[in-house]
Amino acid sequence: MKELNIAKKPFIISAAVFVLALAFAFTLGFVIRGCDVTPPKTYTTEDFTYMSDISSVKDILNTTNEKYLLLVNKKNPLGETYAPESVIDVDKAYTLYEKGVQLESATAQAAIAMINEMRAQGIDNVYITSGYRDYAYQKKLFDNYMYAEWQKDKTLTEAEREEKVRQYSAYPGESEHQSGLCVDFFVAPGMSELVNYGSETEKTNDIGFAETEAFEWLKENAHKFGFILRYPDGKEGETGYSYESWHYRFVGIDAATKIHESGKTLEGWLE
Ligand code: DAL
Ligand code: ZN
Repeated sequence: MKELNIAKKPFIISAAVFVLALAFAFTLGFVIRGCDVTPPKTYTTEDFTYMSDISSVKDILNTTNEKYLLLVNKKNPLGETYAPESVIDVDKAYTLYEKGVQLESATAQAAIAMINEMRAQGIDNVYITSGYRDYAYQKKLFDNYMYAEWQKDKTLTEAEREEKVRQYSAYPGESEHQSGLCVDFFVAPGMSELVNYGSETEKTNDIGFAETEAFEWLKENAHKFGFILRYPDGKEGETGYSYESWHYRFVGIDAATKIHESGKTLEGWLE
């Protein structure tokens, strides 16, 4: 028995040396690889740093053209015949369930650049669910809401129902969507379409946009792409509409940054 142990000794020592060498090699590998990680490529402008290549849309994002400061609200309606100068179809890779969405041209390019940035930062579930809506379409939406309110409470008069609906939906001719300068975002899967269009207080088990990572990101970053949160919480008195965490308006980086930093609404900032 004793002789056998002595015979095994060199083998045990070699095995131990081998295991130690292996562990050392692994550790060394990790250290070398760790040092070798190349930082992700970023794009820096005078003001901001981006993870996606925004160079092709830089001038669009930085527009100071006054047409992007158009104010549309209950006191400043667009009327029945208004249409934006140039409207384009948004690439369906960026729209909810590949539905057809149109936006004013610069707004479309800025919104796509913003979604690309979110994707580059790991938020890959954000889509555009609504953009340009003409008068007729807005009328259809408004009428649908009127009907939904009637179904909920048949004791209300038409005027009472209209007052309710006008808190969350623009009357035809009064919607900012008719300008083509704004987008409604949606997170899929996880949200119900109803939550996005109805009042967030009426939500079911599905989450509201305000509870998503995308919303947190937009709060901090939308202005870097020229967008502002158009209907902030608690500003109903100024905007005329209840809080909409999903509705963003393109105004260009310069105005968006000033509005973001001032905490003002578009109404408050333009007055
Ligand atoms: N939901 C917004 C206010 C609109 O209908 O334009
Ligand atoms: Zn909207």
